[in-house]
This record gives sequence, structure tokens and C-alpha cells, in this order.
Amino acid sequence: MTKAKASQVPRHIAIVMDGNGRWAKARHRPRSFGHNAGRKAVRATIESCLREGVQALTLFAFSSENWQRPQDEVGALMTLFVRALDKEVEELHGHGVRLRFIGDLGAFDEPLRERMQAAMARTAGNSKLQVNIAVSYGGRWDIVQAARQAAAAVARGELRVDEIDESRLGEWMSLAELPPLDLFIRTGGECRISNFLLWQAAYAELYFTETLWPDFDQACLRQAIEDYARRERRYGRTGEQIATVS
Ligand code: IPE
Ligand code: IPE
Ligand code: MG
Repeated sequence: MTKAKASQVPRHIAIVMDGNGRWAKARHRPRSFGHNAGRKAVRATIESCLREGVQALTLFAFSSENWQRPQDEVGALMTLFVRALDKEVEELHGHGVRLRFIGDLGAFDEPLRERMQAAMARTAGNSKLQVNIAVSYGGRWDIVQAARQAAAAVARGELRVDEIDESRLGEWMSLAELPPLDLFIRTGGECRISNFLLWQAAYAELYFTETLWPDFDQACLRQAIEDYARRERRYGRTGEQIATVS
């Protein structure tokens, strides 16, 4: 395996970590067993990103729609988040990872919210890799909260309606301060976005794999990065135009 050139390494990767339930079902175990098994894949992915020199990794851990799952599954996921935060934050901090949670954090219980805030505060000074965990997150929610901030700025007289353009609104979207999303991965075989980063994914390269999330390892991520490195990103231009620029 050859290491990709720096320019071919995505600056920002997002992953829909899907397939935990099916992974557990294949083993005749409860769905929560699959969610627990997914932790190893999270660790392996973060390690890979550190090694490859990726700047930002955004993981979809719990969608705004996932609240509709059976109560015991939602409960098991919340317990898992608490345990993972209690166990992993120090190690991530040691690796220079900056942790951030994005989404409607107000929807969570106080103890979990406090842990998320503490993890963000603890790692705030790190800059090797930014890991964003999307929880109670929806792409539409994100666009709405940005629109609300724009409306509030107009109401305060700080912004004129005609000054709202893609770049101004974009400043209020989650992750605006990070490099643009280069590579959007979904495991588990479904070819859909499921309300993840709608705004941010406008020009991301999409990569779908059948691999179920608990089986996703460093070789799987390498494969996705190699696939990405072969893409030609044209942003509406022609291939010839791109060839003359680079
Ligand atoms: C993704 O795995 C994890 C979460 C949504 C929290 P699933 O639980 O959706 O697994 P499948 O899709 O049922 O296999
Ligand atoms: C998307 O997976 C959300 C996460 C991985 C956290 P789902 O399994 O909930 O997506 P759908 O509902 O099948 O599209
Ligand atoms: Mg699923």
C-alpha cells in the first residue's frame, strides 16, 4: 500500500456509521451489542486519520430521527455515549485530538450534556485532528438554526436582508470554521444521506461501502481515501479546465 500524496488526502472526512444493528442480528445478539462493537471502528478510524494527516473527521453518531427508535435502544445508546466519554477522552486528548459535539445538544439529559461540554473544554487546545461527533443532528436542523441566527441579526439591525448570501449564511452552519468536507463515507450499504450534512456536503465526494460499521477498519478507510484520490473534482467546470489549472 502506498501512502497518498498530501494533496490527495481529504482534509475533512464525514462518516455515516451505519450497519450496527444488522451486524448484531447476524450474530443473534441485541442491536446494542452492535452499537458497542462500533466503538472499535471509531477508535481505528480516528487513529487512521491521525496517521494520514486528515484535519477533520465528522462522525454521525445519532440523528434527529433516531429519537424515534424503541426506547430501550435509545437508552442503550445514551449509556454507551456516557461510557465512551468517561473512558476515551483522556486518550484522545493525549493524541492531540480536539473533540466537538454538533447537533441539538439541549435534547440530552444534563449528565450527558455536562460530559460533552467537559470533553470539549478538556480538548479545546488541541489541533492535531478535530473530531466532531454529530448527535441529535440533522442537516435540516442545521440549516434552520443558521437561518434563525441570520433572522436574529436582521432583527437586531446588524444585517440587511440583501446581505444574506451563501457565504454569510454558511458562517452560521455547523463546522463552518473547518476545511470544506472533501469525502463523505457511508457504511452499511444504504446509498442515502439520511439528513446528515446537507449544506456541507454540496461538493463532497460520496463513497458508499457495504461493510457494516463494526467491521470498518483501517484498511477500509485507506481504500476510501485511495478511491477519493482518483476522483477529479470539477466544481462545475470541464475536465480540460481543471487540467490547465493544476
Ligand atoms: C447505525 O447503525 C447506528 C445508529 C443509527 C445509532 P444502525 O443501528 O442503523 O444499524 P442498522 O442500519 O439497523 O444495521
Ligand atoms: C443514520 O443511520 C444515522 C446514523 C448513522 C447515526 P440510520 O440507520 O438511522 O439511517 P436510515 O434511517 O436507515 O436512513
Ligand atoms: Mg441504519
